[in-house]
Amino acid sequence: MDEAIARYPSDHRRGAAMPLLHLWQEHFGFIGDEAILWIATKLGLQPISILELVTFYPMFRQHPPGKTHIRVCRTLSCAMAGGFEVMENLCTAFGIPPPPDREGWHNPITVSADGNYSVEFVECLASCHTAPVCMVGEQLHENVDPTSAADLVRHRQSARSSPAATGNPHSHPPHHLEHRLIFKNIGRPDWTTDIDCYLRDGGYEQLKQAVTMSRSDIVNKVKNSGLRGRGGAGFSCGLKWSFIKLDEKRPVYLICNADESEPGTFKDRYIIHEDPHQLLEGILISCYALNARTAYVYIRGEFPKGAKILERAIEEARTHNFLGKNILGSGFDAEVYVHRGAGAYICGEETGLIESLEGKRGYPRIKPPYFPAVLGLYMCPTIVNNVETLCHIKHIVAMGGAEYARLGRPNNTGTRIMCVSGDVQRPGYFEIEVGAVTMGQLIYEMAGGLKPGRKLKAVIPGGSSAKVLRADERFKLKQRQAGGSTIEVELSIDDIPMDFDSLTAAGSMAGSGGVIVLDDSRDMVWVLNNINEFYAHESCGQCTPCREGSLWMKKITDRMLRGGGVVEDPKTLKTIGDNIAGRTICAFGEACAWPTQSFVEKFPEEFAARAQKPVPPPLPPEYTPEELIEEELIPTVPMAHDPGWEKAGAKGTI
Ligand SMILES: Cc1cc2nc3c(=O)[nH]c(=O)nc-3n(C[C@H](O)[C@H](O)[C@H](O)COP(=O)(O)O)c2cc1C
Ligand code: SF4
Ligand code: FES
Repeated sequence: MDEAIARYPSDHRRGAAMPLLHLWQEHFGFIGDEAILWIATKLGLQPISILELVTFYPMFRQHPPGKTHIRVCRTLSCAMAGGFEVMENLCTAFGIPPPPDREGWHNPITVSADGNYSVEFVECLASCHTAPVCMVGEQLHENVDPTSAADLVRHRQSARSSPAATGNPHSHPPHHLEHRLIFKNIGRPDWTTDIDCYLRDGGYEQLKQAVTMSRSDIVNKVKNSGLRGRGGAGFSCGLKWSFIKLDEKRPVYLICNADESEPGTFKDRYIIHEDPHQLLEGILISCYALNARTAYVYIRGEFPKGAKILERAIEEARTHNFLGKNILGSGFDAEVYVHRGAGAYICGEETGLIESLEGKRGYPRIKPPYFPAVLGLYMCPTIVNNVETLCHIKHIVAMGGAEYARLGRPNNTGTRIMCVSGDVQRPGYFEIEVGAVTMGQLIYEMAGGLKPGRKLKAVIPGGSSAKVLRADERFKLKQRQAGGSTIEVELSIDDIPMDFDSLTAAGSMAGSGGVIVLDDSRDMVWVLNNINEFYAHESCGQCTPCREGSLWMKKITDRMLRGGGVVEDPKTLKTIGDNIAGRTICAFGEACAWPTQSFVEKFPEEFAARAQKPVPPPLPPEYTPEELIEEELIPTVPMAHDPGWEKAGAKGTI
């Protein structure tokens, strides 16, 4: 525990609260009052400062789990592949009574009567291409067969998975449309994650080169490369870096954002698992360029294996003097620490992440004034970059900024990893030159096309926050001609180039690179309801429009699915979305509003078909009658005749 505390500056020991909570829970299984008091005393904090973490972060438990604890992913790609059936199979096999409402499985966890097993639903585990997935203890199981999930748990046999199904990029040779830079080595038969292997392949040569260069030279290379962040917003990396003054007097921090929780995105975990030194080299070059002497890798709590792999890589790099004191004789010192999150999606948002790293709830900060580059970690200048973004830094040093910028398209340079999941035959990772591949090529040529007999219905192109694109839409995009002039072209969905600008022009976004494909078997109200549940669960709750609105949207789509939709509902959904976007502290507001706004707009016929009841619901949308009946707030008597849904409730009583 003392070692964990020492990773945080002496005047910011609160940052150690989450690592201590993890250690305690790993040892004792849950966090009771004793733990809260002990950790608070150890860090010189009030117990409430620890309790507020335990009640905020879904991974921390206040009650003992079963001897084997199972987390089942309920998010979109897994739900489409049978995630709910996995849960049903587990509950039946272990005698765990299903809660009255399937949503109740998030928290608290449900334990079997004999105490041997416990289950909970969790959100996207960043393995959407091998859906459905679950975690048994710390072990991720992919491609779980919903009919025999319990056997998998009992015998701990590895899940049914073929190399193709695991989406390993090297289980098949590179597609001719791929351009592998980050994935150059990953999956090679002789490739391992240890440093000797990395060094044999020219590893850390760019760090050696970087420490002989001036800081501004490296920043300029990154600027010239045109690299845009791969974490979601697509902001220019060089521009962000240039906000750090060369003569900055305060400590500068670098944070690698490895929180990867955007549904549909599953590249960062894979990079960490398969090539941790590539990431570490990127981090160390970036530290040098930014004069940051401390870097934190904020890694999702659900990636325990990734955290261990990184810890090991850090120690290996230390033995070669690639980090620590006087790196490679350059006089530059840098330390890299791994900090585990605990299941809150909002900690992927950079200011929520910083608060979390400081040992608090992951409540995003208002920008301005809290732009991380100005007032970030411990109110010091901080650069937050995504895992994939930081991996590119090494290649930019190797190639030079201008050469790197030749990859991809103007303003959309380099390569990026597309994560394809959902209704395709060969879901997985595909590293492409940005914009060199169209949506149609990605879906039909690279990801193997749709299942037999199915037609494309829609695509969510950049993680579940991105607006949905309908397959039969026409998109008007401005395209730059060779001579520099621009013309407007009308494209089908198949022809949209997979780059930042084209997807924005098409009315959506490239986001985090998670492409979720939906075929014509999908019910769009059901899909939106699944997405809405994710956002309702993950809102941090600071802003009223987001906290209330995300829940209202979920309750309405829920009610529509149960046959209780009223004619007003599509309009109400849109109004709620419109009143969240642009009115919140952080971009989660847009992230949760955009799916609802776009689904209702693009698929009006499906929403109208589910919104047939003429009378508006008698209760505010945050309550369903079923809940109030359950809470005995509405007295009920057996129904004599069918008075309609408005009065009957789900149980057929009035
Ligand atoms: C709700 C929300 C969740 C986010 N989750 C992630 C995430 O899991 N990983 C990530 O790298 N960026 C995430 N971001 C974006 C970060 O705030 C930030 O822009 C990014 O880490 C910057 O790195 P980049 O410039 O290299 O992309 C999220 C943003 C929002 C609004
Ligand atoms: S928009 Fe939502 S997630 Fe972001 S700060 Fe407000 S309540 Fe929290
Ligand atoms: S891992 Fe289940 S949806 Fe992503």
